[in-house]
Order: sequence, then structure tokens, then C-alpha cells
Amino acid sequence: MSGIVIVGTQWGDEGKGKIVDLLANQMDIVARYNGGNNAGHTVVNGEEAFKFHLLPSGIIYPHIIPVIGSGVVVDPEVLIYEMDGLEARGISTKKLKVSSNAHLIMPYHKILDGLAEKKLGKYAIGTTRRGIGPTYADKAARSGIRVQDLLDMKIFKVKLEHALREKNRILTKVYSQKPVDLNEIIEKYASYAERLKEHIADTSLLVNQALSEGKNVLFEGAQGTFLDVDYGTYPFVTSSSPIAGGACTGLGVGPKKINYVLGVTKAYVTRVGSGPFPTEQKNEIGEKMAEIGVEYGTTTGRKRRCGWLDIVLLRYAAMINSLDSIALTKLDVLSQFESIKICVAYEYEGKVYETYPPHQTIFHKATPIYEEMKGWKEDITQVKDYQRLPRAARNFIKAIEKWVGVPVEIIAVGPRRSETIFPHGRDFLPLSSSSIFKEKVT
Ligand code: GDP
Ligand code: IMO
Ligand code: MG
Repeated sequence: MSGIVIVGTQWGDEGKGKIVDLLANQMDIVARYNGGNNAGHTVVNGEEAFKFHLLPSGIIYPHIIPVIGSGVVVDPEVLIYEMDGLEARGISTKKLKVSSNAHLIMPYHKILDGLAEKKLGKYAIGTTRRGIGPTYADKAARSGIRVQDLLDMKIFKVKLEHALREKNRILTKVYSQKPVDLNEIIEKYASYAERLKEHIADTSLLVNQALSEGKNVLFEGAQGTFLDVDYGTYPFVTSSSPIAGGACTGLGVGPKKINYVLGVTKAYVTRVGSGPFPTEQKNEIGEKMAEIGVEYGTTTGRKRRCGWLDIVLLRYAAMINSLDSIALTKLDVLSQFESIKICVAYEYEGKVYETYPPHQTIFHKATPIYEEMKGWKEDITQVKDYQRLPRAARNFIKAIEKWVGVPVEIIAVGPRRSETIFPHGRDFLPLSSSSIFKEKVT
């Protein structure tokens, strides 16, 4: 049995897609456990690029069973669009399983997401406007509609009627908008039901059975630790649990089934949307990071805010997620900097904080305390062997390992599969040998 979690340790877009793709070859199942199509995971396989929003990034391997867990919110229109896109590229989606307990994103969720953001004005969260927050809110309020409701359109209609009594009042009375039409939604969702019914399953049973048969299951997180609804920079967060613990609730597996947690960390930090970001560089340094790192959102195309690596946050992420190791991505982007800064603590009103401050106001207003390191100013994208990295780059990695207390097992020096270094060898994951043999990724 081997349950491996891949989790973002920052504010999302750390390069989870690349790392999932890299390891998926050795897995039997790749399962998404949280979020929805607010996510954008890029996989570059040879010269081909794939952008996944809802489908698990492992789906391009024919042997993988891709799973969408109950912790995910599903926009069926987007799901079918993404499946059709892959089929058109010759990639089968036949094996996809979608949890019957996952909640459906409905048309009114998307409209309300946009309206709520508009109403907030300068306090807006900067959501992706994909209906994520309103769908999770209905789930918690017990008025959501689930994927399994697509299997019985009579029940679906009753639930929708009930929902629309409230949603249409909000749309018309609070926001002076047009109401949404019951029959139009039923017609659309009935066609989605036809298409998706063969994929709807008890995914918790599937994953648990696979684990007890000694299979390898990779739990793919979306977003990142500081977008977590409980532990992130609330309210500037998403509405799900991207942290490693979210894999248990989002897929219906017990914590003892998780053998390994791999945290994906960008060598600097980016953030899309609003919210505090102590190491943000609103200057030519940030511009340079965005330009070299091509920091534009995969989902909304928005420019990502950029800043230096923040060890205080990373240490907190290591604790919250019980990280076994780190996959450090986009190290190549730092190759063009003369010197590199790492935030090791914050200062606020004369007090130094080496750990995540207990009050968000402190975090919001804190001044980072940096350690400055020499850059390497050398192209590293072709380096395959850790010892061949420039000394300054190795020092940067060693400093992270020392300050966070977690080893770096993967170093990404480019978006492609081949642009990866395994500093201590490839066999660091506790993989189950009873799994079907797969070739190692080269
Ligand atoms: P995710 O949401 O965590 O999967 O990350 P995204 O896919 O949204 O953003 C990461 C971007 O960086 C994608 O365009 C990747 O192809 C790219 N990427 C991943 N790793 C590396 C790397 O090591 N170097 C460079 N230059 N790009 C990378
Ligand atoms: P991946 O999986 C980066 C951000 C949005 C916004 C906040 C809330 O690609 O790392 P939401 O639409 O979820 O209600 O928006 O969360 N956000 C992401 N930022 N990467 C993501 O996913 C994100 N998913 C949501 O920009 O600030
Ligand atoms: Mg992304």
C-alpha cells in the first residue's frame, strides 16, 4: 500500500502539475482531492503541453485510473469540455471515475461568484469566478446538488426547484439581475448526466480497495497551503482544503493510508488575486520574475504577483502538511539574478517573528528579514546531476533544507519532464512493489 500526497506549499501554481506527471508513471491511481476548475495544472510532456483544470494530471498515462474525489466541486460542462479536448488529442478518458458525493457547480454559483466579487469592490478576493466559493457554501449549508443527483433527474429537479426559490430571490432582489430558468438548467444537466453517468462511482471504495491490494495512489492537491480555508490567509483563500489533510476528507481515506507527503515549492513565490504577501516585489525584480517565469495564470490569464522565497511560510507549510520532502520548482528562473534573497523572519513593531505570526494583521504589515545569497548567473536547464549544479545553486538548496528541516528530493529546472534533478536518486518514494511495473520516467 502506498498513498502519496502532492501538496502546494505556497499560494498555488507551484508546479504541482509537472511533479504529478513526473511521478504518475509509477502510480496506479491519480486522484484529485479538492478545489474545482479554479485550478490550472500544466504538464509539458516532450513538446506537447496540457492544461488541466478539473481532470487529474496523471490522466495522460494509459495505465492510470484518474479519479475526481468527493472533496472536488465539479462543473460538468467544463469536465465534458476537458474530456472532449483530450479525446480529440487521442487520450482516452474512459477510465475516469467521478465521486458520486462530489458537489455540482450550478450556473447560479458562477453568476453569484462574480456578483459577490463586484459587490466587495476594493475588498474583492480576486476569485477565479468559477463558482467555487458559492458551491462549497451550499455544500456546507446542506443545500447543494451532488454528482449522484444526475443519476435521478426527478430528485435533481426537486433539489433544483428548492435551490432556485432562494437563488432567484437573491439574484433578483439583492442584485437586480434576471432569474435563472429551471427548465433550461434541467435540459442542460440531463445531457451532462447522459454523458457522465458511466463515470460516476464510489471513489472512496475504489481508492481504499486499490490501497489494500498494494497499489500506489497519488493524491493530487490543487491550490496551496496558504489558500486553505482554515490555515490560509483568510478571507483571501479558496473555499476548500488544499492541505495534505484534505486528501483524507476529499477522498475518503483514513490518515493511516497516507505514507508520504511531498510539498511542491517554487524557488520564489507567486500569488494570483488579493491578500497579504510579505515578500512581494512590486518593482523590477518582481517584473523580472514574472517575465522569466512566465507568471500568468493558467486559468484566468491574470498576471501573478511575484516575490522572494519565504521560509517562515514554508516552515509552517512543512508543519501543517507534515512534509516528508520538497519538490523545488523553477530554480532555472533564478539563474538570471545577480543575488537572491530568502526571507527567514519578519519584523513588526520591533518584534522578530521566526514563525507564522498569530495575528494576520502582523503578517499583513510585517517587514521581511532577508538573507542574501550569491546568484549563479548560469543556464542550469540542461543539468541532470545535482553535483553539476553551480555551487551557489546548491548552497541555495542546502539553505532551504537547513532552515525548513525537510530534504529537497526533486529539483525542477524547466517545465519538461526531462528538466528535473533527483539529488538523492529517484527511489525516495515508499512505493509498493505489488504495483504493476511501470517504466521510470526519463
Ligand atoms: P500548478 O498549478 O501548481 O500545477 O502550477 P501551474 O501549472 O499553474 O504553473 C506552473 C508553471 O510553471 C507551468 O507553466 C509549468 O509548465 C511551469 N514549470 C513547472 N516547473 C518548472 C520549472 O522548473 N521551470 C520552469 N521554467 N517552468 C516550470
Ligand atoms: P492551482 O491548483 C493559484 C486563488 C484565486 C483567488 C483565491 C480564491 O493551479 O495552484 P476561488 O476561485 O478559488 O474562490 O479564488 O484563490 N486560486 C488560485 N491561485 N492557483 C490556483 O490553483 C488557484 N485556485 C484559486 O486567484 O485569489
Ligand atoms: Mg496553477
